[in-house]
Amino acid sequence: MAEEAVLGFLEKNEEIPDSGKFAEEKGISHDEIVNIIKSLNGFRLVDAQDIKRERWVLTQEGDLYAKYGSPEVQLFLAVPPEGITREELQKTFMSRLPDDIEEKLKSSIYKIGSTQAIKNKWIEMGKSQVSRKVQHVDDRVKDLLIQIQNGEVVGAEDIDALRRRKLINSQIWKGYSVKKGPQYAPKRKKAATDLTRENLQRGDWKEIEFKEYNFLAKGQPTEGGCLHPLLKVRRQIQMIFLQMGFEEMPTNNFVESSFWNFDALFQPQQHPARDSHDTFFLKEPSSTRMLPEDYVERVKRVHESGGYGSRGYGYEWKREEANKNLLRTHTTAVSSRMLYALAQGPFTPKRYYSIDRVFRNEAVDRTHLAEFHQIEGLICDRGLTLGHLIGVLHDFFSRLGMSKLKFKPAYNPYTEPSMEIFSYHEGLQKWVEVGNSGMFRPEMLLPMGLPEDVQVIAWGLSLERPTMILYGVDNIRDLFGHKVDLSLIKRNPICRLGL
Ligand code: PHE
Repeated sequence: MAEEAVLGFLEKNEEIPDSGKFAEEKGISHDEIVNIIKSLNGFRLVDAQDIKRERWVLTQEGDLYAKYGSPEVQLFLAVPPEGITREELQKTFMSRLPDDIEEKLKSSIYKIGSTQAIKNKWIEMGKSQVSRKVQHVDDRVKDLLIQIQNGEVVGAEDIDALRRRKLINSQIWKGYSVKKGPQYAPKRKKAATDLTRENLQRGDWKEIEFKEYNFLAKGQPTEGGCLHPLLKVRRQIQMIFLQMGFEEMPTNNFVESSFWNFDALFQPQQHPARDSHDTFFLKEPSSTRMLPEDYVERVKRVHESGGYGSRGYGYEWKREEANKNLLRTHTTAVSSRMLYALAQGPFTPKRYYSIDRVFRNEAVDRTHLAEFHQIEGLICDRGLTLGHLIGVLHDFFSRLGMSKLKFKPAYNPYTEPSMEIFSYHEGLQKWVEVGNSGMFRPEMLLPMGLPEDVQVIAWGLSLERPTMILYGVDNIRDLFGHKVDLSLIKRNPICRLGL
């Protein structure tokens, strides 16, 4: 109704000069008119300009006087022509006030009335007697208040007096003046948001006005699955290995025998890593079913008495120990299987890599978990030297964004020489350990059956370390395990390495 009133009026008239007066004339609430004007203005059917007016409204006290008359006039009327005692006056005055006014308020109105009536010189208040000084009074205050209530214009002096008596307050009134807008139509058409089958059948699609596309609207957030940072970094590292011509090793067995995890790697059976404090052994099945017997024999011999130019460890090697099943402690277990398999045919140089899970019976803290991912690379060829290893490590790590490297001599049972790899971390301004490396020992390679002039250079590192650095995670438990916040996985950015 309000919308029709506004649009209809503008069809025949140039302007609605004042929404307030318009609302009054139409008998529609001003709030309703204002809402419609705002909406029509938004769609540019009308062009609305703000108008602001200061206007006067009655206070609660002003309201009271507009209704019942001013206290001074009421007081004057309570004084009979022959006079009255003060006590009597107050009693009659207060009894004439409406019942719904509180006693306390009644007595303050009495005080106001007597003060004003004295000030106006309408009455005289003696010690006990009160008497009239004039015959007749007009209630100008009441008349003025009613005029203000009706929105009539009242002189500045009167306004000032009423304001000082706190009978009126100023209020900013907001309204609009309204003209036709660029999209003006006598009736607002509701724009269609969809083209329906019915529109096509009826043919009314020709007339329908369609809502414009909002190309700036943001789409619904997609609720698809998200890749975990470890998977993103793994993918990037995989790409680096592939660019460098490496083949992936099959790492799909978390359960391994001690033989491939330790013995084949020339790790003595008394080595502390083979203790249940460091390694998870399987209860069921507790031992492996099958090992290549002639190779096992050669491994036993190299542990006990050496050969191939080695003295061995000189202890009694036990088959039961080698048979024990465990959760692999490193992916080098897979490397030993792969090298053994490679040694069974005519030799061809190989570059192998793997990225998969390993398990260690370790106390969990902010940098250690009992399971993590290992990245492993190895190159198997004739005549490889430590220089080749250093060169390939520079190549590999610089593709990860770590081009400042340092190497420190280290020890692994299966490599000689061995080197820990350090990279300079620009953010932390220090050298951080990023991996371990070495050249596999002849005690490991020769029993497998690899030719004597074949060397294997290899290195390993965790996937978690570079991922934590790249994604700024400083507690490994925030990255992996049951405490991971799923929104971290949703929010984290893509990973780009090796470009
Ligand atoms: N297996 C070693 C580790 O678990 C890493 C490594 C791999 C070291 C290959 C040397 C050569 O830390």
